Amino acid sequence: MTRILALTNHKGGVGKSTSATNVALGLCGVLHRMGATNNRVLLIDTDSQGHATLVTTGRNDFGADDSLYAVLMADRQQAAHVMANCIVQSAWDADLHVLPASPMLEGAERELMGVAGAPYRLADPLSRIAHHYAAVVIDTRPSFSLMTEMGLIAATDALVPVEPRYLETVGLMSVINKIGEIREGWRVANLRVSGIIVTKMDTRVKGHNYLLDELKQHPSLSKLLCGVIPANEAVSYAHRNHQSIFNYDPQAPAGIAYLKLVGTLIQRLFKGGGV
Ligand SMILES: Nc1ncnc2c1ncn2[C@@H]1O[C@H](COP(=O)(O)OP(=O)(O)OP(=O)(O)O)[C@@H](O)[C@H]1O
Ligand SMILES: [Mg+2]
Repeated sequence: MTRILALTNHKGGVGKSTSATNVALGLCGVLHRMGATNNRVLLIDTDSQGHATLVTTGRNDFGADDSLYAVLMADRQQAAHVMANCIVQSAWDADLHVLPASPMLEGAERELMGVAGAPYRLADPLSRIAHHYAAVVIDTRPSFSLMTEMGLIAATDALVPVEPRYLETVGLMSVINKIGEIREGWRVANLRVSGIIVTKMDTRVKGHNYLLDELKQHPSLSKLLCGVIPANEAVSYAHRNHQSIFNYDPQAPAGIAYLKLVGTLIQRLFKGGGV
């Protein structure tokens, strides 16, 4: 079964899109180097802000007919076909494909409210095409709205990026609880919280070190810690240039940390999974 990783946290600006895009490309590259028979990765952008779409495709003009919006509005029988047609190659790597977001997704939530089966409108068509990919990575918006629920219902693994600050780590428990509610409420037995990614870590800040130590000692959360990404301004420059951190500066500390994270994810999630 293809692993479907959803990057999620209702807190804004914690590095969901940065992590989704760089993990997706990192998986492509590492699987390729490992000699995997299939190293294609699909990135799905469920956030109407479309940041992941913009940086990976250089475009922000996807709309009613060529974005995730079209998939959500499609007739159920046609949805997988529409999805396949809306997927584009990224500008980063021929094997990184993107199902783009559109600003129209903002209205889609209202339009789908109360429509029977609405929360499954991403999961259903994705389940029909996911086998073409070694992995699927879903970027979500900064709220637990219907769009984010759809992303999590479609996912097998939730990864939670979190900044090493007090309120963020308190918020972490509520994110994990919320994902548990979605798993129980929508009966998505396959969904589990598979990782916590500490982002924008600055070892010069005492509080950051304190919170990271606390996380490492936590009886249950420590097992979920799968990566620590340093605060690194190369990340912003890479975004501005619509580049991955790996291409922008192969030596950037954040890029090195993202590659390490990808290695950990492959060990934990894909080992024995037939990649
Ligand atoms: N490791 C890092 N070091 C420095 N800046 C970073 C790092 N990771 C992300 N950023 C910056 O933080 C900002 C937010 O990052 P990003 O867009 O990935 O977060 P997000 O959680 O997707 O935000 P939103 O909730 O709005 O979707 C961006 O300006 C990005 O360049
Ligand atoms: Mg984002």
